Amino acid sequence: MVKKDDSQRTTNDAGIPVASDEHSLTVGPDGPIILQDHYLIEQMANFNREHIPERQPHAKGSGAFGHFTVTKDVSAYTKAAVFQPGTKTDTLIRFSTVAGEKGSPDTWRDPRGFALKFYTSEGNYDLVGNNTPVFFIRDPMKFQHFIRSQKRRADNGLRDHDMQWDFWTLSPESAHQVTWLMGDRGIPKTYRHMNGYSSHTYMWVNAKGERFWVKYHFKSDQGVESLTQEEADRIAGQDSDAHRRDLFDSIAKGDHPSWTLHVQVMPYEEAKNYRFNPFDLTKVWPHGDYPLQEVGKLVLDRNPTDFHTEIEQAAFEPNNVVPGIGFSPDKMLQARVFSYADAHRARMGVNYKQIPVNRPRCPVHSYSKDGALRVDNVTDPVYAPNSKGGPSANHTYTEKWETSGEFMHAAYTPHPEDDDFVQPGALVREVMSDEERERLVSNAVGHLSAGVSDEVLKRAFEYWRNIDKDIGDRIEKGVKGQ
Ligand code: NDP
Ligand code: HEM
Repeated sequence: MVKKDDSQRTTNDAGIPVASDEHSLTVGPDGPIILQDHYLIEQMANFNREHIPERQPHAKGSGAFGHFTVTKDVSAYTKAAVFQPGTKTDTLIRFSTVAGEKGSPDTWRDPRGFALKFYTSEGNYDLVGNNTPVFFIRDPMKFQHFIRSQKRRADNGLRDHDMQWDFWTLSPESAHQVTWLMGDRGIPKTYRHMNGYSSHTYMWVNAKGERFWVKYHFKSDQGVESLTQEEADRIAGQDSDAHRRDLFDSIAKGDHPSWTLHVQVMPYEEAKNYRFNPFDLTKVWPHGDYPLQEVGKLVLDRNPTDFHTEIEQAAFEPNNVVPGIGFSPDKMLQARVFSYADAHRARMGVNYKQIPVNRPRCPVHSYSKDGALRVDNVTDPVYAPNSKGGPSANHTYTEKWETSGEFMHAAYTPHPEDDDFVQPGALVREVMSDEERERLVSNAVGHLSAGVSDEVLKRAFEYWRNIDKDIGDRIEKGVKGQ
C-alpha cells in the first residue's frame, strides 16, 4: 500500500498540480496516449537529459562538506585570509579515482584525487591535489597522451596494460609515481585513510610582499592504511562503491574524518640552486631539507543531500587562488590553470559558477555577462574602464616571479641531483620495509603479467632495474615464472 501525504501534491516543473503519478492520459482505459499529456512528456524528456558528461579523468568520485580551521600562525609566509590564525572556513572535498569511469570500482589500483574548495572571504580557493606527492610526467604536453594510455583502446574498448607500460617505459620521469602506485599506497583502504598533497609547488606571499615556495601535505588523522591487491579485488566484486559508502556512512554516524595540514616552506631565493628542480612535479622535497610545519585542521562533517547538484556538478579549478597565494614555474600547474575551467565550460556551460555548490560566499563584482543558463542579474555598467561607478581592478592582486629566455620546446634546466630514478630508488630502499618491497614486487609482477608484449616487458625490466637493481631482477624472475 503506497503511503499518501496529502499535504504535498505532486506538481510538474512549473509547479502546477498533476493528475496522476501512475497513469498516462489515454482515450479510454485501453486507448492510445494523447499528445496533450504534457506531464508524461516532461517526465520522459527530463529523464533523457538526466546525465551530464562525466569528467574526462577522475570521473568516479565522492564528496563531503566540512571546515578548515587554522591552528598555527603561518602569517609570516602568507597573507591569505584563509590561513590567518584562528580562521575557520567552510570547505567542500571531492575524492576520486583517475582512470575509471563513473561506475568503476573504488578499489582499482590508481592514484586518488583530493580536491578541495575553500569558500574564503576573498573568493573561492581551490586546491586540486592527489593522494600522492608526485605525478607521472612533468610537461603538460604529455598529459592527454598519458590519460589516454590509462583509459581504453580504440579497437576493443578495453583497458590495456601493454599500452600503460609502453607509455611509462618510454617516459622514465614516471618511475617515481609508478613505484608509488605499485606499492601499498596504490590502493588506499578508504578515502579516510589516505593523505592529500598539493603535489605542485605554489607561491605564498606575506603582508610585507615577501615570497616563499610551498608544498601542502594533508595528513590523515585516521592514519594511512592500504588494501592488498587480493583484498581490493575481492571488494571490487562485492561492492564497487565501497569507498563512497564508507565515507558517507562514517559522516552520517558522526565519525567525522579529519586531516592535519602541514606545509614545507622554501625561501624564494633557494629555488634557483636547490639540488633538485623544486618545480618538477615528479620530485618531492625531502623532509630532511624542508621539514613539515603545521597549519591547521580539515574536518568533514556533512554529507551531500543531492549527489548530482553538489558533487557531480562541483567544479574545482587550480586557477582559483586567492591573494597571498600564487602559482609557480611548474609547467604542469600552468597548464592546469587553463584546463579545468575549460573542462567545466564544456561539461556544464559557461555559467557553472552560479550553481550553488560553486558559488563564492563573498560578493562577486565581475564583468561577465549573459550566456546560457545565467541566473544572476547583470547590472550596468557592463564594461571597464567606466565613469559610472562600476567596480575597478587592483594591480596588486597578482603574485609574480621573474623570468627571461627565448621561446623553445625544451626540458627544464637540470639541477645538480635531478635524475628520474634517485627518488623512487630512495622510496624502495629507504622507506619501504621488506614486506612492502615484497608486495611491490608481487603487484608489479601481477600487473606486467596481464597482456604486456615481450618488447615492452624488456623495457619494463630495465626500467625497474634503474629504480633498484634487486627489485628489477625479482620482477623479471616473477614475470618469467622462475
Ligand atoms: P622521509 O623518510 O622523511 O619520508 C618518507 C615518507 O614516505 C614518509 O614520511 C611517508 O610520507 C612516505 N611513505 C611511507 N611509506 C610509503 C609507501 N609505502 N609509499 C609511498 N610513500 C610512503 O624521507 P624523504 O622525505 O627523504 O623522502 C624519501 C622518499 O619518500 C621520497 O623519495 C619519496 O619517494 C617518499 N615520500 C616523500 C615525501 C616527501 O614529501 N618528502 C612524501 C611522501 C613520500 P607521509 O609522511 O607523507 O605519509
Ligand atoms: C580532474 C586536467 C594534472 C588532480 C581533471 C580534469 C581535467 C584535468 C580536464 C577534469 C575536470 C572536470 O571535468 O571537472 C589535467 C591536466 C593536468 C592535470 C591538463 C596536467 C597537465 C593533475 C595533477 C593533479 C590532478 C598533477 C594532482 C596534483 C585532479 C583531480 C581532479 C582532476 C583531483 C578531479 C577534480 C574533481 O574532483 O572534480 N584534471 N589534470 N590533475 N585532476 Fe587533473
